[in-house]
Amino acid sequence: MSQPIKIAVLAGTTRKQRQSIHAARYIARIGELLPDVEIVFVDPVDFSFEGDGNDPEGKDERYTKITGEADAFFVVTPEYNHSFPGSLKRMLDSELANYNHKPVAFAGVSNGHWGGVRAIESLVPAVRETGLVVMSWDVYFPNIQDVFDETGVIVDEYSKRYETNVTKLYTELIWFARLLKSARHE
Ligand SMILES: Cc1cc2nc3c(=O)[nH]c(=O)nc-3n(C[C@H](O)[C@H](O)[C@H](O)COP(=O)(O)O)c2cc1C
Repeated sequence: MSQPIKIAVLAGTTRKQRQSIHAARYIARIGELLPDVEIVFVDPVDFSFEGDGNDPEGKDERYTKITGEADAFFVVTPEYNHSFPGSLKRMLDSELANYNHKPVAFAGVSNGHWGGVRAIESLVPAVRETGLVVMSWDVYFPNIQDVFDETGVIVDEYSKRYETNVTKLYTELIWFARLLKSARHE
């Protein structure tokens, strides 16, 4: 049996009324069903980053450990003013070497019909700078308020489509994760 691939699923926002958390938790649940995969769920609400940057005092050691051990990342970003949320950027900025030569997949979220595509497009150059390897397609959750009910359960009509799309993106992410993990250890 091959070694499990550790995937950190990163939620992108912290506000009380947030909805992208439903997509993030859903993506984590799908990942937990996959063979030989270990999912670590990262909610920025649970972490603390002092000031800006990646100085020692600007890190959260739990996030350092998670990113150090992760073989891949699945980042869920909603669109905030045609870009990605500050909480997500702050969290990502707190590390650098831990991302290098590891793959990242994106899911975009919005309450309109764009599905977070502009958030992802603006995040790509930032994560490229960290050494993360970006997948060539994404999953989009437009009209997020219609996709999940208020308890975070996916509405039946969307269930099959998202299960297929998210699993397909995981398959690609895991392919890159295995390749890059083995190359990093050579
Ligand atoms: C500050 C702010 C700015 C937003 N800007 C955009 C935007 O530019 N384009 C868009 O499609 N949706 C925009 N939205 C809608 C969000 O994508 C939508 O509310 C999403 O659920 C936000 O994620 P959250 O609920 O996890 O905070 C914005 C929402 C907020 C709170």
